[in-house]
Amino acid sequence: MRVLYISFLVLTANIVAALPDPGHSNSRKAPGTVVIDGYRLVDAKARLNRGDHSLESSLDRLVAQADSWLNQGPWTVTSKTKAPPNGTIHDYASQAPYWWPNPNTPDGCPYIQKDGVRNPEVDNYPDKINSIKLFNSTYSLSLAWYYTGNPKYSYHAAEIIRTWFLDPKTAMNPNLDHAQIIPCANTGRSIGIIDFSQDYTEIIDAVAILNTGAPGWTKTDAAAFQEWNKQFLLWLTYSPFGVEESSATNNHGTFANMQITALALFTGNHSLALSKAKLAKDFINNQVTSNGSQPQELARTRSFHYSNFDLTAHLRWALIARKLGVDLFKYKGPQDQTLFKAVNFLVPAATRGRGGLEVPGAAVYSVCSNR
Ligand SMILES: *[C@@H]1O[C@H](CO)[C@@H](O)[C@H](O)[C@H]1NC(C)=O
Ligand SMILES: *[C@@H]1O[C@H](CO)[C@@H](O)[C@H](O)[C@H]1NC(C)=O
Ligand SMILES: *[C@@H]1O[C@H](CO)[C@@H](O)[C@H](O)[C@H]1NC(C)=O
Ligand SMILES: *[C@@H]1O[C@H](CO)[C@@H](O)[C@H](O)[C@H]1NC(C)=O
Repeated sequence: MRVLYISFLVLTANIVAALPDPGHSNSRKAPGTVVIDGYRLVDAKARLNRGDHSLESSLDRLVAQADSWLNQGPWTVTSKTKAPPNGTIHDYASQAPYWWPNPNTPDGCPYIQKDGVRNPEVDNYPDKINSIKLFNSTYSLSLAWYYTGNPKYSYHAAEIIRTWFLDPKTAMNPNLDHAQIIPCANTGRSIGIIDFSQDYTEIIDAVAILNTGAPGWTKTDAAAFQEWNKQFLLWLTYSPFGVEESSATNNHGTFANMQITALALFTGNHSLALSKAKLAKDFINNQVTSNGSQPQELARTRSFHYSNFDLTAHLRWALIARKLGVDLFKYKGPQDQTLFKAVNFLVPAATRGRGGLEVPGAAVYSVCSNR
């Protein structure tokens, strides 16, 4: 679960990268990133090239992260030892972590839930942990290539992406039919889509950066990755699991629809992207109250975590929607609900100091209040 906080930090970094910089207009072609503002990337690179020292420590941190990935990966869903029930080795698979074999039955069925206690059987499906490395590594590596121009980063990012998505021997099928399996009960669940939706935009932005001419990433690779994502988008919009997850009214629905907006934008499906960007307003209306609270997430046992988590999806969605001319940062719901109020609502809990938890909220707050 720490991962979720970290991904929230990654988001805040995205927001920093996306803040408009009114002092600079840009004529150079910007990467077609869906979350990050591509013009900010161009500006930051130009500043680095001019020797702007204020960016050096950020670049050093980024390069250190990218270096840490150079000797890791590539990963593939075909490395698991067995195919998921009713699926193939090319299908992504993960198992619900808190479900255990029934001690009172010979076959262990039906599985029983022990909330918060992780069943080591889930390690039979390493796809989830590998997918987190996939998203994280390609994001750091592509950014490191973009800013340093060192091709070792883009070559490795390209190899990781080709292996996971494109090489016929190792490629993942474009579906999540077998995510969050509960043995005996099902062969996958709609809520498993969050395995991807919580971080998948990172790889979209990574590829958008590589698409600006990165050594090792060919036009053929770029076209094949587009095609994979068109198929995945069809699955997300039309499969029963995709429909169910997009209909969720809590954080699952926020992440699912944010992901669809991103993929529609990336694959050039403008009408779908625009309609989903506008749908974000309904989610603000329905999830956020006039004082900025998110009652559904507050009702959870880990209310601070889930409130942050849902807001992560909202803010990312707003950054995507902005590229479609839909301004969710300025949007006010019928009860005057706004994303800023939702951020502000969490600030007291964040800054009261709860170990590492104080950082994400505070970071978002300072970023948003600068706007
Ligand atoms: C991403 O990778 C960096 C190292 O490059 C690590 O510090 C960070 O914790 C990772 N984040 C996630 C979400 O795994
Ligand atoms: C899995 O496949 C078997 C054999 O084709 C079928 O009988 C069963 O209903 C399927 N299970 C699910 C959950 O789809
Ligand atoms: C856009 O996405 C929707 C939903 O997946 C699909 O029905 C439609 O055909 C797509 N349009 C284009 C132009 O690809
Ligand atoms: C925020 O608004 C909700 C819904 O109106 C209400 O239940 C809650 O008590 C309010 N919280 C605070 C801290 O004012």
